[in-house]
Amino acid sequence: MSAIRYRKIVVERFGDPEALQTVEATLPALQTGHARVKVLAIGVGFTDLMARTGDYLLQRKVPFSPGYELVGEVVDFDTAGQNPAWLKDGVRVAVALTKMAAYTEFISLPLWQLVPLPEGLDPHLAAAVPLDYLTALSVLDTHGRVGQGDAVLIQGAGGGVGQALTRLGELRGLRMYGTASADGSEERLARQGVTFINYRQQDFEVELREREPDGVQAVFDHIGGTNLTKGYRLLAPGGVLVSYAFSGRPGHMVADTVRGALRVQLMNLRPGRRAALSMVPNEIKTDHAWYRSALERVLGMAHRGEIAPRIGAVLPLMKAADAHAALERREITGKVILAAT
Ligand SMILES: NC(=O)c1ccc[n+]([C@@H]2O[C@H](COP(=O)([O-])OP(=O)(O)OC[C@H]3O[C@@H](n4cnc5c(N)ncnc54)[C@H](OP(=O)(O)O)[C@@H]3O)[C@@H](O)[C@H]2O)c1
Repeated sequence: MSAIRYRKIVVERFGDPEALQTVEATLPALQTGHARVKVLAIGVGFTDLMARTGDYLLQRKVPFSPGYELVGEVVDFDTAGQNPAWLKDGVRVAVALTKMAAYTEFISLPLWQLVPLPEGLDPHLAAAVPLDYLTALSVLDTHGRVGQGDAVLIQGAGGGVGQALTRLGELRGLRMYGTASADGSEERLARQGVTFINYRQQDFEVELREREPDGVQAVFDHIGGTNLTKGYRLLAPGGVLVSYAFSGRPGHMVADTVRGALRVQLMNLRPGRRAALSMVPNEIKTDHAWYRSALERVLGMAHRGEIAPRIGAVLPLMKAADAHAALERREITGKVILAAT
């Protein structure tokens, strides 16, 4: 098939949500080892907002399309004769990208990146799964290596990644403490057996010391700064601090990520406890087999109803600026999905 005309949302210049503009583009003819995909739904993550302002470690240069995750339908493909049985025109796939580019109506992707959607799984629900749940699997299994009965502290337990951590943690039988502040957090977390700590009103270190005097097996942190030191101090012998972002000081995230990553490396030199960094786009790039099996697994869980990401809003792709603005005003809790068609 020939070139396809389509629209995408790009960050023209770093800045506020108005920096997101619609542009027309042409998808080139099919390349060997690739598929061309018509996008149905895109998951919006906090990382997209950081990248829009130019404050993200794996920053793309402007102009670029934000977004790490999408669900779409295969338009055509060229496997050079290595045809997996599931790959057909029209088949629905989910994808997590290694470089942001998801706010688009069409995209060309290498075949290894496409994971088939279980038959009948709602594309909006599926688009809420890839990045948050792959991050949760990386944090819990690859780096945290936690198991049944372990006590863990989950920072930001009500956010996208936080919800994935609490749900998978519940299924693994973890004893969970979670920080949050949004309205309704306490009730929502209680339903998953998570003990709520309001990070705006309580000091999580004081609370945890009282409740877990022998320390916790793991702390999962996306804030950085003093949280890292406090989290590390809470670890029981053999425990692990897994850091997966450094988002505590908007506007300083690149510098804080570089500094924070170094601190994690230094902590890891001390005996008795571990510290680890999770960076999923890089983990996908370096381990395609992990990516494919982990994404297949969580999509299967979504299909069976074992995980059910909370969708806060579904907006048309062309309203991406409104979605970012609403998220920044904290008007939406739950995952935001952009519908491309
Ligand atoms: N390492 C990776 O590969 C990877 C992958 C995906 C995402 N990330 C990063 O992970 C972070 C979370 O992403 P997301 O999409 O889940 O964001 P999100 O949905 O916006 O959730 C962030 C949560 O953080 C909570 N929070 C804010 N300040 C806090 C504090 N001082 N202490 C504890 N919690 C606090 C908020 O809770 P309340 O609303 O309840 O106040 C919010 O629910 C982002 O920094 C993102 O860039 C990293």
